[in-house]
Amino acid sequence: MKPRVFVARPIPDQGLHLVMQCCQAEIWEGELPPPRDVLLSKVGEIEGLLSLLTERVDGELLDCAPGLKVVSNMAVGFDNIDIAECTKRGIPVGNTPGVLTDTTADLAWALLMCGARRIVEGMDYVRAGKWKTWGPMLLMGQDVHGATLGIIGLGRIGEAMAKRARGFDMRILYCDVRRREDLEAEWGLEYVDLDTLLQESDFVTVHTILSAETHHLISEREFELMKETAVLVNAARGPIVDPQALYRALKEGQIAYAALDVTEPEPIHMDSPLLELDNIIIVPHIGSASYATRGKMAGMAARNLIAGVKGERLPTCVNPEVYGQ
Ligand code: DGY
Repeated sequence: MKPRVFVARPIPDQGLHLVMQCCQAEIWEGELPPPRDVLLSKVGEIEGLLSLLTERVDGELLDCAPGLKVVSNMAVGFDNIDIAECTKRGIPVGNTPGVLTDTTADLAWALLMCGARRIVEGMDYVRAGKWKTWGPMLLMGQDVHGATLGIIGLGRIGEAMAKRARGFDMRILYCDVRRREDLEAEWGLEYVDLDTLLQESDFVTVHTILSAETHHLISEREFELMKETAVLVNAARGPIVDPQALYRALKEGQIAYAALDVTEPEPIHMDSPLLELDNIIIVPHIGSASYATRGKMAGMAARNLIAGVKGERLPTCVNPEVYGQ
């Protein structure tokens, strides 16, 4: 008998084929995630769960899943999962690090460029039939080349942003809980505290994990420190930026622009005042959404799932403590 698993959404074939070969899989076919009560009823008999960042995996879910041997998240982030609860129950959790680094940095860089050069406003202007002539004052924005970039969180994606910034001759500041002298030398980075980074950067880009410490890390006080011309990019997790403070900062001109791949909440409510502003662009959490990368993520998530149901060590495990090491 193949092990029973639940896959919370259709995923690219690179992962789906592997799962179907090795497991008796139920795939949730909906475009939307399974409703909570449905998810709780589905996990009762399974040995493996392939989750996405839309599935909350917590004590309640684990109580409903007595036979669960593995949670494989098709994402590098795992803030949707109560890791301590999984570890307590000896359940390994897998994620998909590495394969999405450059794809996510590409998107964050595109957001930065769009914010700097007002690309989306330009398109709206053209579509609205307002383009009557070349205008010496029309849609002026910020130069990216030679400007100062502040990277909050120098993990893999933060480093990939630094690499891109080098090509634009930028001064690059970073803050992180850990100083990375090796990367400072490699990419010409300056390690500063958060306040200095906010005060001196023309572009602030967020790449830290979401945790109790980083929840609303960027709020009123932080916006007050930023330059009036600053562009804020967030391609990490929505709740790192306080949305009410962001609205005030954009409305009152404390900063010039925000370019977001992630929001709090997700999806953003259609009555959010942020959507009334002209100086913001928001895309629907598509940082890793290239065909190639989503295929690799699906493959990795499938391999973690299959290893877990076989009782083997997960290739990429976020709580290796479950193996007693
Ligand atoms: C992740 O992997 O954590 C992204 O947010 C989705 O790709």
